[in-house]
Amino acid sequence: MVGRTLVRGGLVITAADEIHADVLVEDGRIAALAAHGSPGADSWAESADRILDATGKYVIPGGVDAHTHLDFPFGGTFSSDNFETGTRAAAWGGTTTLIDFAVQSRGKSLRDGLDTWHAKSDAQCAIDYAFHMILSDVNEHTLKELDLLVAEGVTSFKLFTAYPGVFYSDDGQILRAMQRSADNGGLVMMHAENGIAIDVLVEQALAEGKTDPRYHGEVRRVLLEAEATHRTIQLARVAGAPLYVVHVSAEEALAEIAQARDKGLNVFGETCPQYLFLSTDNLAEPDFEGAKYVCSTPLRPREHQEALWRGLRTNDLQVVSTDHCPFCFQGQKELGRGDFSKIPNGMPGVENRMDLLHQGVVEGRISRRRWIEIACATPARMFGLYPKKGTIAPGADADLVLYDPTAQQTVSAETHHMNVDYSPYEGKRLTGRVETVLSRGELIIDRREFTGHAGHGQYIPRGTCQYLI
Ligand code: URP
Ligand code: ZN
Ligand code: ZN
Repeated sequence: MVGRTLVRGGLVITAADEIHADVLVEDGRIAALAAHGSPGADSWAESADRILDATGKYVIPGGVDAHTHLDFPFGGTFSSDNFETGTRAAAWGGTTTLIDFAVQSRGKSLRDGLDTWHAKSDAQCAIDYAFHMILSDVNEHTLKELDLLVAEGVTSFKLFTAYPGVFYSDDGQILRAMQRSADNGGLVMMHAENGIAIDVLVEQALAEGKTDPRYHGEVRRVLLEAEATHRTIQLARVAGAPLYVVHVSAEEALAEIAQARDKGLNVFGETCPQYLFLSTDNLAEPDFEGAKYVCSTPLRPREHQEALWRGLRTNDLQVVSTDHCPFCFQGQKELGRGDFSKIPNGMPGVENRMDLLHQGVVEGRISRRRWIEIACATPARMFGLYPKKGTIAPGADADLVLYDPTAQQTVSAETHHMNVDYSPYEGKRLTGRVETVLSRGELIIDRREFTGHAGHGQYIPRGTCQYLI
């Protein structure tokens, strides 16, 4: 264990500032920052055990990905990244904290689900991690358990208006869970799509012989995302609870969130890189290739991308997470050949998020500080991890990324580290790349070599959402 590390000569970027500063790391935490070239910073160089030269690089907080599904059961299979491979890939991509979804199985307790996810992840992770809980069975017992979970640091709960028979909750169940969270400080995360109506459209499409992946996008209509977003916002108002809408993909759903926020409600929105960079054109790729892009909410026509970028600029959307839920094309996505509704829903991305959002900076869509805000600081605040995570400040964990803003890369499954046999961004050229990553002061990526290990990552019990008034 190295005692004092000095990260020297870089441009330190947080959600608040951009400063040419040296960063002193001691015992896994940020000890101090000082202007590069100042007498204080120069004296640190003499006593440091290790100096990392960040000249020409950005020094940014490690990314916080608040939405992943590792080893996740779906559609008769499991997502192809487990906690070891998924957290390693996250590290390669400059993410040093992720919040994964523990799943309550129907008929079982929340405790049971959480224990299962601890067993899957314990001693496996390369980076720090925390859990949300998926509620699949809201009843008297599980409602009581919510209080216990909040008290032990699982402070957010995902509910679904989609996937009838799997994760779906009806409006009464959603209202009850929201009432409980209004009391205990938990945050309800909503997968907002009208799953009952979607299932009717799925049945009708299949009966007409429409079996290709592109019909996944067609039946999961924009209006059905907007309707469920509107409805669950109203339920949250009735309960007096905050609401975080996950994986927003449609402009019309975003408009519902913006309207609620304009009223001053505690309603928050998340989108994901796939909705910013990919579209229904990908779902329509021939020879079943469109299956690679099947996720829910679905990819939308290109026009929606502009609206989502705008939402990120105007703070109608606050967070970009990946919803990383990879399934291999061979053997997993193929389960849906001849019936798009059997394609496991989900896409890889945990390794690509920081770079894709940096591309938004390169293309002038967001500022550098906004990049860090939506990818690091706000997710940490939203889910009770700030300022331990999400920033560079004295006392914070020394989760740091040395980022080369001018490096050129071409995204490919040949070179990525996620355990999945394709990349939805295959061949995409990006400017900027992660060079070195520290997690609590330990080098886990050293000049593009993985130096971390499974078991370094610690489970973090979380506080409650830090945006509530
Ligand atoms: O397609 C997706 N998003 N799969 C993962 C489950 C979910 O709804 O987030
Ligand atoms: Zn979802
Ligand atoms: Zn998800």
